[in-house]
Amino acid sequence: FTARRDKGENRAAADRVTSAMTLSSIVVPTTPFEGQKPGTSGLRKKVKVFMEKNYTENFIQCILDALGDKLQGSTLIVGGDGRYFSKQAINIIIRIAAANGVSKGVFLVEGVLTVDLKVAKLIIGQRGILSTPAVSSLIRTHKVLGGIVLTASHNPGGIRNDFGIKFNIDNGGPAPDSFTDAVYDLTRQIKQYKFTPDLDCDFAQTGVQTFQVDGRDFVVEVIDSSENYVTLMKQIFDFEKLRELIKGTANRPPFQVLIDSMNGVTGVYVTRIFVEELGANPDTNVRRIIPLDNFGEIHPDPNLTYAKDLVDKVKADATYDLGAAFDGDGDRNMIIGKRAFFVTPSDSLAVIANNLECIPYFKSNGVHGFARSMPTGAAVDRVAAKLGKEMFEVPTGWKYFGNLMDAGRLSLCGEESFGTGSDHIREKDGIWAVLAWLSIIAHKNMSIEDILTEHWKTYGRNYFTRYDYEECDSNDAGKMMAHLEETIADPKFVGKEYSAGGKTYKVKQADNFSYVDPIDKSVTKNQGIRILFEDGSRVIYRLSGTGSTGATIRLYADSYEKSNVTSDAQDMLKPVVEVGLELSRLKEFTGRDEPTVIT
Ligand code: G6P
Ligand code: ZN
Repeated sequence: FTARRDKGENRAAADRVTSAMTLSSIVVPTTPFEGQKPGTSGLRKKVKVFMEKNYTENFIQCILDALGDKLQGSTLIVGGDGRYFSKQAINIIIRIAAANGVSKGVFLVEGVLTVDLKVAKLIIGQRGILSTPAVSSLIRTHKVLGGIVLTASHNPGGIRNDFGIKFNIDNGGPAPDSFTDAVYDLTRQIKQYKFTPDLDCDFAQTGVQTFQVDGRDFVVEVIDSSENYVTLMKQIFDFEKLRELIKGTANRPPFQVLIDSMNGVTGVYVTRIFVEELGANPDTNVRRIIPLDNFGEIHPDPNLTYAKDLVDKVKADATYDLGAAFDGDGDRNMIIGKRAFFVTPSDSLAVIANNLECIPYFKSNGVHGFARSMPTGAAVDRVAAKLGKEMFEVPTGWKYFGNLMDAGRLSLCGEESFGTGSDHIREKDGIWAVLAWLSIIAHKNMSIEDILTEHWKTYGRNYFTRYDYEECDSNDAGKMMAHLEETIADPKFVGKEYSAGGKTYKVKQADNFSYVDPIDKSVTKNQGIRILFEDGSRVIYRLSGTGSTGATIRLYADSYEKSNVTSDAQDMLKPVVEVGLELSRLKEFTGRDEPTVIT
């Protein structure tokens, strides 16, 4: 076969095919698998499911088929969080992509006129490593058709755990429902996939390799995993100022951070940005920065439960001013202050919104609207109202922000599920969020807790909490949701009163959230049951769209206080949570006494 690798110097020469020997593609007959329906964020299943013969092949072929004519001559970005099975999956993608680039002209398949489709090039992160934000940035920088992201995000990895495949479209964001529905339809009909069995492509080193497949060129470019992303961050933030903060100056001691990559993909970026660029101490300011394919057997989800290790460290050591953690693929973030003072993602979004003048990117690009997902606490709405900005409430899932950003109506958004980001890319961005916080801290010269307290004193406080009941029986969870549907359908439900912990809540409104996209007018229904009370408190129930076993029930509770702003969130929300549990009869349906995770 023909392959030539280039270590960077002489790209143009390496682009040339140097051997006349060509590879041949084949057509492999296959049959559909059930359940290849992408969830909130791509297809996520146990590794062993992806390992089944043809399972991954089918899904990849269906993604390419769903792209239709656009595939012709296109380039795709490929990479992921490096979890177990990533390398095998990348080899499959390379062999299928190459084979889909080699059919010739227009010809008949089973009596149907079929047009030649062609992927001309793949750009792959070195060793298959690219964070989700990095993929989004690369798609936008290179203006390519899309990217295949190999991750199950915050789900555990390793041979016994999860793998995932997600497609991002040409704006850099997760594919919309219309695309994932089309992929799903194709997975139910697939009869064959195209494959280049002898194509052996090493993606351990950077460089360009050209293969000849059925007489045509197929190019694989392996790139440095972090270069493009680091360049983008330097354009957005004032690195000089951030370096002064981290290293300290004559007038200010170093600001001590503890950045925890939880053995996920961000380690690569944290090393480049925090250690090499900003001067953080590699021994004391960063941890778990080597990406491991099983994330060191931890659950790589940055919240108070799964990042407890970090929380305990920051709590115990008062020298730390900020702690931060990311999930496996680097789009989620958690921020804590001194002594592990917890910043809820809903508050984090509101504080960043209120301080965008500290970030050069927004100074030059302007600030358009703000947005949050429906279950996210409404703190940012108050900032939007004060600043006179448009405010959008979308269903859960980052993909719902994309159209608004593309239309220039949205600059900053976030979700309670530890996602924060802006229109610099079309994914949420964990490292970006930490750099945003550091910019605010450098500008205001205040501690995280003081920044929050000041914010609450100005705006009042939206107390927020989320209870998760993981791995419930899907039937039980479905029954509970059906029971809630019935409850809110009763015309007498509005106006009813419920009491707990000495407080009484009167139902003001209840529905199953549905959303009309303001740009393309697409409608998304059944996005969670909301019960809003007269005093402004609310409870929301949703089934998670990202789990891979059973059902995860999420109960979100939120209440607004004008002046009592420094109480404990769990104490404040206990009564409304109790009402929420009673209304749903969650205990009765699921047999669960306690949530798995509280945030
Ligand atoms: C992923 C998506 C987020 C979304 C979250 C919801 O992280 O990227 O945009 O908020 O999943 O997860 P859930 O499990 O609640 O469906
Ligand atoms: Zn993620």
